[in-house]
Amino acid sequence: MALITTTEMFSKALNDDYAIGAFNVNNMEIIQGIVEAAQEENAALILQVSAGARKYAKVPYLTKLVEAAIIDTGVDVALHLDHGADFEICKQCVDDGFTSVMIDGSQYPFEENIALTKQVVDYAHSKGVVVEAELGKLAGVEDDVKVDSASATFTDPQEAKEFVERTGVDSLAIAIGTSHGAYKFKGTPYLDFERLKEIHEIIPNTPLVLHGASTVIPEFVEKCNAYGGEIPGAQGVPEDMILEAVKHGVCKVNIDTDIRLAITAEIRKYFVEHPGDFDPRQYLGPAREAVKGMVSHKIRDVLNASGSKDK
Ligand code: G3H
Ligand code: 13P
Ligand code: ZN
Repeated sequence: MALITTTEMFSKALNDDYAIGAFNVNNMEIIQGIVEAAQEENAALILQVSAGARKYAKVPYLTKLVEAAIIDTGVDVALHLDHGADFEICKQCVDDGFTSVMIDGSQYPFEENIALTKQVVDYAHSKGVVVEAELGKLAGVEDDVKVDSASATFTDPQEAKEFVERTGVDSLAIAIGTSHGAYKFKGTPYLDFERLKEIHEIIPNTPLVLHGASTVIPEFVEKCNAYGGEIPGAQGVPEDMILEAVKHGVCKVNIDTDIRLAITAEIRKYFVEHPGDFDPRQYLGPAREAVKGMVSHKIRDVLNASGSKDK
């Protein structure tokens, strides 16, 4: 049991029809819920930390909580920086003991993205840490990186090949129609699977990463709506689309919004039913269980990753 890199888990996933869940973590209950689910499903696991999470929970707390979860469950974890905006934050995470970092240069012109990614790759690899980069723009808001949905552009397969060759990056986040948050599609959901297949064909040895991959589980949205403020128009990536994507080189599937919804639904319900309670354990406990149940479902039914630790 240890903190590990994604190298081995990706090389196995690349040759099989499953993907590793990469779940965003912000506090103890989220970490516990996710790691306990991975333990029960015997699944390979990535926990990822955004700049916002670093600011909210602080790195020593997050890294120590992840270490504690590894000790408690025996689950191996890759600890990953999500959407690193510049070289400095990536370097800091490498120095803080993360085993994987993402440099997100997707909003820069191609050559600038390459130069920035290469700089991070050189530093991270010298310390045994792996790097994810992004090419193409997702619609929506990415942490510190704001993307106008009107200017969203999908990943170009030829550029992806050149990008991977020139940067030496370990995995590549691509844009094929997903976006961050709970409002992914206005009409019928659409992912560009032809483009995904082309990218996978042209860089078959590069693990691909799908950001904005929450399915926005209707049960949680309905529960949030039933017990408080409306979340109108919420729509995620259909489960069968994720299952299809993992057959074509997608090895890492990023999930944050579904965690937020699971927790919020449970806590809203709790307070409607127990308006007089004020012990945080009474509502954070069920919220943690909801995260665990949701993550087990993802690993089993959406990522096809049950048992992936021993594959
Ligand atoms: O891709 C973005 C993740 O959902 C992280 O969100 O920056 O609010 O922690 P956050
Ligand atoms: P969701 O908002 O779909 O959960 O995506 C999370 C993500 O991509 C984190 O990097
Ligand atoms: Zn993302």
